[in-house]
Amino acid sequence: MPEPFIRYLEPDDASGLVECFRLCYGETYANETFYDAGLITSMIESGELRSVIAELDNRIVGHTGLTVRSASSLAAEAGNTVVAPDMRGQGLLGKLGTALRQRTLDEGLVGYIHYPTTAHDIMQKGATAGTGRETGIMLAYIPAETNYVDFDKQDLDKKDFEKAGRLAATIVYQPVAESPERSVYLPGRYIQPIRSLAQALNLQRKFYEPGIPAFAESLFKRQENIRRGLSNITINQIGVDLPEKAADFVGDGSTAVIHVDLNMDDPGIDYAVETLVTNGFIYSGWLPEFHQSDVLRMQMLVNPEEDNYQPNLVTEQARSLLTLMIEERKSQTG
Ligand SMILES: CC(C)(COP(=O)(O)OP(=O)(O)OC[C@H]1O[C@@H](n2cnc3c(N)ncnc32)[C@H](O)[C@@H]1OP(=O)(O)O)[C@@H](O)C(=O)NCCC(=O)NCCS
Repeated sequence: MPEPFIRYLEPDDASGLVECFRLCYGETYANETFYDAGLITSMIESGELRSVIAELDNRIVGHTGLTVRSASSLAAEAGNTVVAPDMRGQGLLGKLGTALRQRTLDEGLVGYIHYPTTAHDIMQKGATAGTGRETGIMLAYIPAETNYVDFDKQDLDKKDFEKAGRLAATIVYQPVAESPERSVYLPGRYIQPIRSLAQALNLQRKFYEPGIPAFAESLFKRQENIRRGLSNITINQIGVDLPEKAADFVGDGSTAVIHVDLNMDDPGIDYAVETLVTNGFIYSGWLPEFHQSDVLRMQMLVNPEEDNYQPNLVTEQARSLLTLMIEERKSQTG
């Protein structure tokens, strides 16, 4: 049988890529970008989407990509990994992973952050088999409607997959090259986990104790992902008015999950974390090099179910992060 050919994704590939996602997920994939060929083409042209694909007989049979979130980031977001149902079990995932690593280096990036699904063990195991480590968990991140077409769900802890509700994804940092030393402010409540992660990932960090916010006003950008039921709030400037602003983050309560991303070069980060914890947020993850600095992601589930706090995790590292989150939640709910 001929071997699929691995290459970079080009603007003309967009409609073939949409077809591949439809084969793998029907209409249920949470990232709507992958149903919009025009948008994919413009993201490839602008350099926002930098992917590798597997091609066989003029058909795209596998994909994994880098999404570059900001021009100053040294790490991209990696993911949207699929292998067409008729091509599974032949090691294509590994070949795409090797090519993606090479592309990351070619693009001058030092690593990538990806979000292995907890729907099955395959991605979590692959992500941590080498030098990658979980730095967080995004609870209830994957909508319940997501249908993994033609995939045996035996790994789901014998739960009925179709009724499993929203599932978590882990956050994994994968270093691919040595990164420059970076100075960041480290919030008091996460000193231990983040210090030990930096050591495990061999990332050179100078950690500083945060102070009081340097500004009166907080500035943030809010993005709604309706299909995913997710609001993402990026705080670009932490100000002393954050408590008033954070009280409105839930909005009308129609979104399932809220993420708040904090830049770790902002000395007000401890103030922001404590404000967010008071408002029901808990740790989600440490994202090295994600913006102009490292990013700390906090999360809140708007109407949580007990299952949301029992994701299928395959490593001790991920389980210890879950313990941290559950303890934080306990301290909020009493
Ligand atoms: C996960 C996925 C990308 C793996 O791709 P792949 O090229 O088949 O990967 P591999 O050939 O390395 O096989 C990986 C494992 O999947 C198993 N597998 C293959 N087809 C399968 C199927 N239909 N159901 C369950 N397991 C399957 C293989 O036996 C192998 O198990 P092992 O590691 O214990 O030997 C692919 O199955 C897929 O696209 N799944 C649906 C979308 C998805 O889950 N994407 C990841 C989101 S984070």
